[in-house]
Amino acid sequence: MGKIMMCGSFKGGVGKTASSWNLAYCLAEMGKKVLAVDFDSQANLSTCFGIEDPAAVPLTIGHLMMSQLEDEEVPESAEFIQKRNGVDFIPSSMMLSAVDSRLRMEMGAEKMLASILEPLRDRYDFVIVDTCPSLGSLTINALAAADEVMITVNPQLLAMMGLQDFIRTVKKVRNRLNERLRIVGILLTMCDARTNLCKVITEQVMEAFEGQIRIFESVIPNTVKVGESIYYSKPLVEYAPGSKVCEMYRSLAREVAGYEGE
Ligand SMILES: Nc1ncnc2c1ncn2[C@@H]1O[C@H](COP(=O)(O)OP(=O)(O)OP(=O)(O)O)[C@@H](O)[C@H]1O
Ligand SMILES: [Mg+2]
Repeated sequence: MGKIMMCGSFKGGVGKTASSWNLAYCLAEMGKKVLAVDFDSQANLSTCFGIEDPAAVPLTIGHLMMSQLEDEEVPESAEFIQKRNGVDFIPSSMMLSAVDSRLRMEMGAEKMLASILEPLRDRYDFVIVDTCPSLGSLTINALAAADEVMITVNPQLLAMMGLQDFIRTVKKVRNRLNERLRIVGILLTMCDARTNLCKVITEQVMEAFEGQIRIFESVIPNTVKVGESIYYSKPLVEYAPGSKVCEMYRSLAREVAGYEGE
């Protein structure tokens, strides 16, 4: 049975989408079957996968969530799962923000995403869910659906702020909605090795969570290659397979898949 892994953060712009996308391709490169789910109305992950106009996609995760909320039957998976170079994905669009407002008014609607993903997980080794940076109803739905959450932290953006709040929310969701949920690790992204700040923040995060939460050994460097690869809708394994950042995402994939390295 596949693992459902959510990539989350309290802050925006910390590399969640870039990491979900590249992790998906690095896991696929290892021979894993991967489904990536765009669960953000900004639809950045869908853009990464080459969707030029998310609003024109007839079946997105927003449509599926609406169907769940209306107690309608969810369409056949072949109708909404798209494929690109060995990775399956479910796109998103602005439609998901309408779902967000609906979710806030509904009672007991925390398991809507779980109901959509549960029947799919048997076909994959990993289902990776990219979320928006908030602790709102969409994020709660993602946490309620996930087995594991990877917390993305950018040392340049006052990383420690909000991290404890996020972890507290994860614990609440575990106690109230989803006892399987655990934090798989903290991923440091956009670390500029030339600056001292990255080192200092890494030490701070380690000190605060040592022995409680794993900090991934793979640290994602700050590089223009990531922005370029998004621009060309080519994941790093295609756009810059020999780059340091791609090597780091490969190493993260090994850590996530349980390989501790050679
Ligand atoms: N390792 C990196 N080095 C340099 N730039 C990066 C790196 N990772 C991501 N970026 C850039 O930073 C910006 C934010 O990245 P991304 O969209 O992955 O963050 P996010 O956490 O998903 O944001 P949001 O919270 O808005 O969903 C993008 O413009 C992306 O190109
Ligand atoms: Mg994002």
